[in-house]
Amino acid sequence: MKFLKPTMLCLALVAFFTATAIPVAAGGGSAAPPAATGKDLWNYLTHVKYQESFALWPGKGKLYKGTEPHGMLLTTYVNKTALGSIQGKKGTMPVGAIVVKENYKPDKKLAAITVMYKVAGFNPEAGDWFWVKYAPDGTIQKEGKVGGCIGCHGKAKGNDFLFTGELK
Ligand code: HEC
Repeated sequence: MKFLKPTMLCLALVAFFTATAIPVAAGGGSAAPPAATGKDLWNYLTHVKYQESFALWPGKGKLYKGTEPHGMLLTTYVNKTALGSIQGKKGTMPVGAIVVKENYKPDKKLAAITVMYKVAGFNPEAGDWFWVKYAPDGTIQKEGKVGGCIGCHGKAKGNDFLFTGELK
C-alpha cells in the first residue's frame, strides 16, 4: 500500500468524478432514461437541465407566437433523439424522443409545461407517446394516455402526432 499516497488517491477520485460528470453536463447522455411517469420524467428533465441541454425545435426561437389551446407564447425544446428525427426527416420520432413545450402568458409568465415522451410499447394505437402537463412548479396536472391531448394531436397523426414542424 505504500504506493497509494494520498495525492494519488485524490487524483484518482478527481478523474473518476470528472469522467462520470461530463456526460451529464453534455446533454444528459448518461442519465438513465426516465420511466413513463410524470414524476420520473420531471426529475429527469430537471436533472439534465433541459433548458440548457436540449435544443430548440429547429426554426423556432424562444417565445414564438402559438395557436390555442397552448397559450400565446411558446418555447419548444427537443432532446437529441427528437432533434435527429426532425433534421433527418425521418417521418416519425424514435423511442426516447422528448419534446418539451413551455406555454407562456402574453406577459411572458410561465403558465404550463406540456411534454411528449416516446416510450416503447406505451400506447401503440397513438404513437407510443406518454403525455404530461405540469404546472410551472412541476405539479402534475395530467399524465399518461391523456384523451384530450391525443384527441387533438390525432389530427397530426400522419406527422407522428406533432404539429410544430414537418417530420418529412
Ligand atoms: C385542441 C388541440 C390540442 C390539445 C387538446 C392539446 N394540444 Fe398540444 N399542440 C396543439 C397544437 C396546435 C400545437 C402546435 C402549437 C403551435 O405551434 O401553436 C401543439 C403542440 C404541442 C407540443 C409541441 C410538439 C408538437 O406536437 O408540435 C407538445 C409537447 C404538446 N402540444 C403537448 C400536449 C399535451 C401534453 C396535451 C394534453 C395535456 C396537449 N398538447 C393538448 C394542439 C393541442
